[in-house]
Parts: sequence; structure tokens; C-alpha cells
Amino acid sequence: MTGDAVIQVRGLEKSYKELHVLRGVDFEVARGSIFALLGSNGAGKTTVVRILSTLLKADAGAAVVAGFDVAAQAQSVRETISLTGQFAAVDEVLSGRENLVLIAQLRHLKDPGRIADDLLARFSLTDAGSRKVATYSGGMRRRLDIAMSLIGEPSVIFLDEPTTGLDPQARLEVWDAVRQLARGGTTVLLTTQYLEEAEQLADRIAILHKGRIIVNGTLAELKQLLPPAKVEYIEKQPSLEDVFFALTGEDDTPDTGDDAESDAATTRKEGR
Ligand SMILES: Nc1ncnc2c1ncn2[C@@H]1O[C@H](COP(=O)(O)OP(=O)(O)OP(=O)(O)O)[C@@H](O)[C@H]1O
Ligand SMILES: [Mg+2]
Repeated sequence: MTGDAVIQVRGLEKSYKELHVLRGVDFEVARGSIFALLGSNGAGKTTVVRILSTLLKADAGAAVVAGFDVAAQAQSVRETISLTGQFAAVDEVLSGRENLVLIAQLRHLKDPGRIADDLLARFSLTDAGSRKVATYSGGMRRRLDIAMSLIGEPSVIFLDEPTTGLDPQARLEVWDAVRQLARGGTTVLLTTQYLEEAEQLADRIAILHKGRIIVNGTLAELKQLLPPAKVEYIEKQPSLEDVFFALTGEDDTPDTGDDAESDAATTRKEGR
């Protein structure tokens, strides 16, 4: 294990009755980096996040977060991390500022008002701070949700599909917020189904498929897993999407009509 790994996962297994969701998951996340866990619906991304954030017990294997074992030292793990779930956890009836103050109070922090104002400024929500969250756009809600999860300055943050359902502009806003976190030294583990999100944000990308991590590397490393593009007038590198579909054998893009059997990656490259 590398000394600087803040998250260390070894041989993680989890079944729900006969359904073996995780069949031996291994990975590490370096301090202050952004790690993206990619996978299709039902691949087990949320299951991994729930185990690492102590909400769920693994059947086998071990995971260490910030030096604490998630099974044996769950309380210490909880004090170190924060989790932003797949569905926004903000209170609609309260204003953005009131949501932040509430969490700071629940965590018994000094000066909740100042903490709230700092976070509103950091996530460009100062002007909207006194408005009810019910009036916020999806991107503003997500930003508030992430801001709330930063209260108490966790050193590790789990973001489960932070931009699902957001429009492109809101997605960009959340991406900026996540980049800011990593620049500030926070370690970020995010799950996503958006390959572009992983390409844009992550220092390392792992693909969870059929219960295991089938690849784990930088974007450049993942792109090298495919043979270079066929000889063309313009040289094109395979996109992460090409790598993903080639490795998982899944393709949900509409048939272009020419050759249904043709390799998904090739079709996509030529189709551009
Ligand atoms: N409490 C549970 N009981 C039974 N099955 C479950 C439970 N939680 C998850 N599963 C199943 O485990 C599999 C993995 O679920 P998980 O939520 O981890 O996937 P995911 O990768 O997060 O998917 P998505 O992209 O849709 O969020 C799915 O088949 C799901 O139906
Ligand atoms: Mg999920």
C-alpha cells in the first residue's frame, strides 16, 4: 500500500441475498486527489460508497479511510468524512443560509452564521442565500448540498453521482465546486455514470463492472488500453467512452444504421 493513500480498499465483497454485487473490489485513493468510480446502473457504486462511509457493512475484505478501519473504527471514520448522497438532502422550506446554519449547529460548531456566510460565498450562493431552497435551480441545490457536506471540514468527501439530472450549465458549476475542494486539499471520491465527468474532473478513474474494478488509471493510461485509432487523415485518440464500452461490452447508443455488429468504439470514432 502506498503511504499517501487516504482510502485503501482491499477485497471488498457484498451480496444482497443471492445477488453478489461486489466480488472483490480493490483500489486506493491518494490524498488531495479526485478519484472517479464509474459504472453502469446497478454496478455497485453506491454500495461501495455506503460501505466506505460506514452506512453498510461489507461481507468480506477491508477498507481504511484516513487511517481508520471502516468496520472497527466507524465512529472515527464518520468524524473525518462527509457524504453527499445520490439525492439532494437539502430542506426545501428553509433558505440556503438556514440549511447551512442548521448543520453547523447540529455539529456544535462555533459561529454557525459566519460558517454559513463563508460557504455561501465560496459556492456563489450569497445572493440566493436568504431565499427558500424551493426556489433554487438544480445546480444551486447541488452546490448547497455540497456546501453543507463541507461543514466541519472533512478531509475526505464522498459524492455519489453529484451531477445526475443536472443540465450542462449546472453540471459545470458543480464541477467547479469539486475542483475547488481538491485544490483545498480535500480528497474526493465521486461516482458517476457520465464518462465526460470523469474525464473532466478525475486524477484517476476506475471502472466497476461485474463486481470488480476492471481498470484503474489516469485518463491517459485508460486511453492506452485500446489500440490506437485506425489510420485516418486526422489522428483521434480513443475517448474514455470508447474505453468504457470496449471493456464493459455495453453500448446504449442508438444504432447508426450501417453495421449493427461493428465494434462500438470504431463506429463512434468514425461517426464523429
Ligand atoms: N438494500 C438492497 N437490497 C437488495 N438489493 C440491493 C440493495 N441495495 C442495492 N441493491 C442492488 O445492488 C446492486 C447495486 O446497487 P448500487 O445502488 O450499489 O448500484 P449503483 O452502481 O449505485 O447504481 P446507480 O448507477 O443506479 O446508482 C443493484 O442491483 C441493486 O438493485
Ligand atoms: Mg448509485
